[in-house]
Formats: sequence, structure tokens, C-alpha cells
Amino acid sequence: MKQKKKVLILGGGGFIGSHIAEALLDEYSIRIFDKKNFSHKNITPLRGDIDIVEGDFNNITDVEPALKGIDYIFHLVCSTIPATSNTNCTYDIETNVISTLKLLSCLKHTPRCKIIFISSGGTVYGNTPSVPISEQENNYPLCSYGITKLMIEKYLYLYRHLYGLDYYIIRLSNPYGERQDWHNSQGLIMTFLYNVCKGRPIEIWGDGSIVRDYIYIRDAMKCLAKILMYSGDTRIFNVGSGRGYSINEIVKKIGTITDKNPRIVYKTNRSCDVQTNILDSTLARQELDWEPETPLDKGIARVYRWMSEAIATQVV
Ligand SMILES: NC(=O)c1ccc[n+]([C@@H]2O[C@H](COP(=O)([O-])OP(=O)(O)OC[C@H]3O[C@@H](n4cnc5c(N)ncnc54)[C@H](O)[C@@H]3O)[C@@H](O)[C@H]2O)c1
Repeated sequence: MKQKKKVLILGGGGFIGSHIAEALLDEYSIRIFDKKNFSHKNITPLRGDIDIVEGDFNNITDVEPALKGIDYIFHLVCSTIPATSNTNCTYDIETNVISTLKLLSCLKHTPRCKIIFISSGGTVYGNTPSVPISEQENNYPLCSYGITKLMIEKYLYLYRHLYGLDYYIIRLSNPYGERQDWHNSQGLIMTFLYNVCKGRPIEIWGDGSIVRDYIYIRDAMKCLAKILMYSGDTRIFNVGSGRGYSINEIVKKIGTITDKNPRIVYKTNRSCDVQTNILDSTLARQELDWEPETPLDKGIARVYRWMSEAIATQVV
């Protein structure tokens, strides 16, 4: 029998990582690296079929054993989120950029290993003169999180130039879907749905006019699966739905789908938020033959069903 290629998912116990593991499990042998004693709730159904290595990404001696025999790496570990990253930029650089550089140094000796870095299409561009935003757009992030993502992107380029490192970068828009953590302010749809289910008010930063590009997580996973087989020259891909919705539109959709009328509390807007972010994913469509498939209403309805069940069975 042909031996399966080995995929390491750094941060594989989280929202996106657990979906990558699930999407690739049939075709690849999966190893997850995540924090010591991390919650296994996202990967419970997969546990018998995957290899788990626990440790601290900031400690390279913890990471090294996880790299053994690996063909592909998805790098998803991140210590900050856009909304809070400006409060301690030094910490953001130390824990994300420096630790990633230590990882890249290890990969100098294993150039056959391909690394896929999940960057942020929502923050690396900042405010742009127009939308949709292509990969060629200028980069003026409004948060440290976006800057450290760009720094890592540049080091990947440098390590390819110096050592032949094989890498690809996915600038992901705003993913939403089953298992996303609603306490994490990165997942607006999930947080709003949870509050609606619990009969709590929805809090909106600003007047609700901010526009984002939301992509259903399983659509994004199909793209990530394709990138493993890709060997072309394009290194950076935007991955989004290509459609923009304001926060007020999302609230309206959630009200219709859940048949509930949530109370809305408008709060002061945040300096880290760009006004409009919609990604142009033409390159991913052309080079990877990928297409987002799930309309927003359908995706939200799926997640709502999942959440209602999870709340009823007290999984969450
Ligand atoms: N969720 C989004 O909206 C979004 C959008 C674009 C890009 N991204 C990026 O995708 C990646 C994954 O996002 P996510 O939403 O799945 O986040 P997540 O928080 O659900 O998952 C991250 C995982 O990394 C692990 N981790 C964090 N620090 C660690 C450390 N020091 N050592 C070992 N493990 C550690 C966490 O335990 C967690 O399981 C991140 O890099 C994020 O910046 C996320």
C-alpha cells in the first residue's frame, strides 16, 4: 500500500486546525502540535486516527520532535488577535515572529518540506482605495497582528531565496463555522449566534457599517487541500468569498435565520478596524481551481443548527 504523506498542523487543536485535520485525514497522515494540556474538544472524533504532540511553540525544543518525517506543515499558531495585538506589540513580535523564525531555521535542513502559512486577508492590507482587494495591493495594517503576519510572509520569502524553502501563504478572510470559539472576538458570526441563542444582546463596535468578507470554513478547507498539490510560482493567495456584508446585514440575517429578534448595543468603534475588506480570490480560482460554494445564509443556518445541538447537549 502506498504510504500516506505526513502533514503537521501547528495549532491543530484550534478552530481552523481541527477543520484542516478533518478535511485531510482520508488522504494524509496527520500530526497535530498544540499547547500542553490543550482542550481536545475540537478533535475528539479524530483522536484515534491522528498523532498528537503537545508543547509550546515558543520553545523550539518542543517543536523539533514534531517535525520528524513531515512532508507538509500548516502553521496556524498565533498568540494574538487583531483587536488586542496593539496593546503589546513587542509580545506579538516575540511570540509570533521570533518563534516562527526559529521554526524556519529548523526547516533549512529539510528543504523538501512544504510550509503553508495562514496569514490574514482581513488585516494585512489595512484601508484600501478600492475593493475587492488583490494580492498586489499595498500593505498598511492598522494592527500589530497584521504587521507580524506580513513579517512572517517576508521571512518565508527570504528563506526561499536563501535556502530554497518551499512555502505558500494563504491570506484568509473571515472564516466562520462549526467549532469556532465565540469568546474569541475574531469570530463575529459565531459570537452573535451564541449571544442570540443565549438570549443575550449583540454588541457592535461602531455603527454596524463595517463590511467584511465571510467564508464558510469548509469552503476554505477545500482550498487548503488543493494547495498541498500545487507547485506553481504564485506564493500568496487571497482566500475569501469575494462578497462583502456589513455587520448590520449580518445581524439581520441572523435574526431571520434564528427567528429571533436580538437586542443590539452599539459601542464606540475600534481603531484597529478597517472600514471595508473584501478579497479578490481570482488567483486561487485560476491557479488552484477552487471556488467558494456556500452562500452566507446557508452557512449561517448550518452553524446555527450545530450550535443549537451543541448547547442542547452541553458540548459548549
Ligand atoms: N479565525 C480567523 O478569523 C482567522 C482569519 C485569518 C487568519 N487566521 C489565522 O489562522 C490561524 C488559526 O486561527 P484559529 O481561528 O484556528 O485560532 P485558534 O485560537 O482556534 O487556534 C490556534 C491554536 O494554536 C494553539 N496555540 C496558541 N499558542 C500556542 C503555543 N505557544 N504553542 C502551541 N500551540 C499554541 C492554540 O492552543 C489553538 O489551539 C491563526 O494564525 C490566525 O491568525 C484566523
